[in-house]
Formats: sequence, C-alpha cells, structure tokens
Amino acid sequence: MPTIRNVPFFDYPRVYTDDRDDLLRIFDDVGRRGAFIMQKDLSEFESNLAAYTGATHAIGVANATDGLELSWMALKLRPGDEVIVCSHTMLATASAVVTAGGTPVPVELGPDNLIDPAAVAAAMNHRTVGIMPTQLNGRTCDMDAIMAIADKYKLFVVEDAAQALGSRFRGRHAGTFGDAAAFSFFPAKVLGGLGDGGGVVTNRADLHDLIFQLHDHGRDMDGEIRSWGRNSRLDNLQAAFLSFRLQTYDHAIARRRQLAAMYQEQLGDLNELDLPPAPDSDPDHFDVYQNYELQADRRDDLRDHLRLNGVGTLVQWGGKGVHQWERLGFTTHLPKVERFFERCIMLPMNTFVSDDDVTYVCDTVRRFYRS
Ligand SMILES: Cc1ncc(COP(=O)(O)O)c(C=O)c1O
Repeated sequence: MPTIRNVPFFDYPRVYTDDRDDLLRIFDDVGRRGAFIMQKDLSEFESNLAAYTGATHAIGVANATDGLELSWMALKLRPGDEVIVCSHTMLATASAVVTAGGTPVPVELGPDNLIDPAAVAAAMNHRTVGIMPTQLNGRTCDMDAIMAIADKYKLFVVEDAAQALGSRFRGRHAGTFGDAAAFSFFPAKVLGGLGDGGGVVTNRADLHDLIFQLHDHGRDMDGEIRSWGRNSRLDNLQAAFLSFRLQTYDHAIARRRQLAAMYQEQLGDLNELDLPPAPDSDPDHFDVYQNYELQADRRDDLRDHLRLNGVGTLVQWGGKGVHQWERLGFTTHLPKVERFFERCIMLPMNTFVSDDDVTYVCDTVRRFYRS
C-alpha cells in the first residue's frame, strides 16, 4: 500500500498564507489611508482589468452574479424576455436573468461541453432577446458561432466569464465578444481575492455608464442621481489585493496549463476517462484551466477511492445542470447535460498543487481502474 498523501481540492488558507507579507503590507497601506470605498485602488484595478482583457471599460462589482444581473438590467430585460443559457453552468448564470426580470432558457452542451450553438439556434423564438454563453472551466466557447447567431437575430450577448479571466478564443479575450461580461474573484478563482468580488467589462460606453449607475445607488460618475440603483461595489481593499495578484497572473495561468499537460500525459491513455482538451491541442483556444473537469466511468466509486487516499475532488453545483433544479420550474429534459453530470468530476487544479501531487493523484486514479 503506498503512503497516503494529502492533496486537498483547494487549500483555502494558502490564498492568504502564501502571500501573507504582501497582503498585510497592502492591508496596512489601505487601512492607514482610510481608503475603503471607491478609492484609487479600485479605479486602478478597473483600469488594470480593462487593459488586461483589452476591453474598453471595467467596473468592479460585489461578485460576478451581480455583474451578470446588472448587465442584463442595463440591457433593459423585460418580463417574458428569454435568455438562452447552457444548462452546464452554475445556477448563478440563470438566476442573474431571473433577478434582472427575464426568463432563462437552459439548453444542451456541445462536444466541447460548452453551450451548443445548434441548441441555441433551436431554442430561439419571438421572446428570445439574448444569449449568455458560459466560458466554463477557463475555456472560451466558439464565439464566432455564438456571435453569428446573435448578429443574425439581433440578440444581446452577455458572457458569463466568471471562470475565464485570461482565456482566449482566436486570440481574443473571454469577456470582450458580447455586449458585456462578468468575471468572478471568489477566492478559488484563477484570480482570487480574500472574499467575494467581481468585475464587469464592456466595450459599450452606454452600458458602462448604466451599469456604473446601477451598482452605485443610481449615481453617475459625477455623483448625480440618474436612476434607481443599489450597492454592488467592489471593496477598495479587495481591488488592491486583486491588482497585486494581477501582476503575476500570467504565471498562475502558465502553471495551471503545465498541470493540465501533466494530467493529460499521465491519464491520457485511460479509456475510462474523457479528459478536457490539453493545452495547445486546438490553436483557436487558449485555456486557463480554472478547473480540471473530466468525465469518468464509475465516477462515484472513483471519487470515494480518491477521498480514501487523501485526494480532494469536486462534483460541481450539487451534481446537477441548471434545468435539473425542478423546484425552480424547469420541465425540460437535456440528456447530454444529464449524462455529463453523472460522470463529471474535478481533480485538484490550482497553483498550490505540486508536480508530485499530480503524480500521486494520477497514480491513485490508475490504481482504481487497473486493480
Ligand atoms: C460559471 C459561474 N458563473 C457565475 C458564478 C458566480 O460568481 P460569484 O460567486 O462571484 O457571484 C460562478 C462562481 O463560481 C461561476 O462559476
């Protein structure tokens, strides 16, 4: 019996402890300046986020869910308006449509496990006003196909890019294709803060102004009230932490891509598994591996085996697609998504994972199928 090694799915204390000195220095600096709400650290972070993604505007918000909701509110969603989403996403994607006043319509995933453009086209009707593709697990959808549908039918596109900061499709950053997009800075995200946080990007000046108003009590950038609004601001302190992390963000992405390549190399020959695409396996995609989500035969037994051997895994979102939350009123049946959720499992994927951890995880997986 090999020695058991502890490989947590995500080691939350290390979000703080690995950079403790720098984070304390930033905390002290912000604290001494009393710079808590909408100060220069926030505007600097917003500029940094816009520059990083290539978007024209960025607004720090309380979390990505709010960012998505505010985007749809700014697009003036009305009761009865339908927005097509993939059922393989966090419920937050759909709930943002509901809280903004519309109706989410979950559809099937395609061969890449992201929203299927053919399913989007099939779900269209006279109530459809928008599409919200989720750039899931750090991979950007085929945005040429999505934007072609949106252009043809004159639909809005808001990207749920909560998991995809830095991800690119044909060289262009996730979040910059549609009308607006939201990123999440939840601690376990590739760019993670020390609490909740989110950012909206848009290339539309009118949407920037509206979302800005909506997230700050209806005030415009001069402090003048223009509409009803609410408070969904990103804390200045979180913004300061996030700007610090953004400086080394490309290293974090490079490390995740290295880990993904190792998983591919050490697990790629197992027929019982369907792995996510390896880095650079498709020149159109630059993936940032927010998660390493694969599909596995005998998934639940594999998960138990990994847990008993010290390896943390995750089956995301309670193991259900959006449309499977029947209490929320969904009645559709989407076999591909349902099948996906029977087999999906995430292995540890973050910068706290060492090469030896990956080897141990892969050996443990191999022992399960080969014993
Ligand atoms: C795909 C997706 N959408 C939306 C969200 C919501 O982000 P937040 O927790 O910042 O509201 C998440 C967060 O995990 C997510 O993974």
